[in-house]
Amino acid sequence: MFDLKAYLKAKQQTVNAALDQLWDRTEPYPTRLVAAMRYSLEAGGKRLRPILCMAASEAVGGSEADVISAACALELIHTYSLIHDDLPAMDDDDLRRGKPTSHKAFDEATAILAGDALLTVAFEVIATAGREQRRDALKWLEVAYLIARAAGYSGMVQGQMMDLTVEGKEITSEELERLHHFKTGALIEASLKAGALLGGGNSQEVAALGRYGRHIGLAFQMADDILNVEGKPEMLGKPVGSDQAHQKVTGPSLIGLEQAKVRAGELVDRALEELKIFGIRGEPLAAIARYIVERDK
Ligand code: IPE
Ligand code: IPE
Ligand code: MG
Ligand code: MG
Repeated sequence: MFDLKAYLKAKQQTVNAALDQLWDRTEPYPTRLVAAMRYSLEAGGKRLRPILCMAASEAVGGSEADVISAACALELIHTYSLIHDDLPAMDDDDLRRGKPTSHKAFDEATAILAGDALLTVAFEVIATAGREQRRDALKWLEVAYLIARAAGYSGMVQGQMMDLTVEGKEITSEELERLHHFKTGALIEASLKAGALLGGGNSQEVAALGRYGRHIGLAFQMADDILNVEGKPEMLGKPVGSDQAHQKVTGPSLIGLEQAKVRAGELVDRALEELKIFGIRGEPLAAIARYIVERDK
């Protein structure tokens, strides 16, 4: 039987080792900024987006090495988004990845700048891969494009804006899924597509993995909302109950805890459908899809 725990651990180690190498070139720069960047990055996230990127590459017959720079870039962007998400002007949270949030451990200005720097270095990492792998430069350009689209005004940042503007308001469940897609799903979808593209997948495979990513992205945010209601802060490494305190519109607040779980399960089933064409190579992604709604952190 497929051992997901061992798989996730091995992949986390690969990503962490690659991320470590980033700091070799930051030596001469002001230590406070780099310290804040590393503080959040090394606080121990699940590394889900990079793992999905590597798993997508493997599903189409590619390798980890093909995609490692994209995997790092995704985690850098994700970590920046968490630092900014926790700021007083946004979710105003004090705990992240089991540690005080960046603006608590440093200060607000440093947290903002650390986020800015993580976002920027992500695209530096992608551009560097394109410069070093000239034969695949066009692929890296496409990856830069799709990650930029997923992260910015047409993706995550847009979702964050929507998340703030609907606080305390009534919206439909369709509108909530749209918000979830922008805020969380888009970057997850891009993680899969980038992995599939760099791993050498054909357009049909890239599209199928993109759809898988779209579904698990929505399921992932639904699970995040559910964990904010019934998770354990010591497991999650972040507060629970904060969505309600901030009048966030979430799956549980809109359709109730039970229906939110039903919907998350449906989304996972739809994601699994997309993996059929990959046969045994899709096994890690299938296990990850199930894990997303069963996790406790
Ligand atoms: C949390 O993401 C924020 C959301 C987009 C829901 P993760 O649950 O992937 O956080 P880390 O990376 O493990 O800390
Ligand atoms: C975070 O969403 C999404 C992004 C950072 C883009 P949430 O605000 O729902 O996530 P947590 O619960 O703080 O991790
Ligand atoms: Mg938020
Ligand atoms: Mg938040």
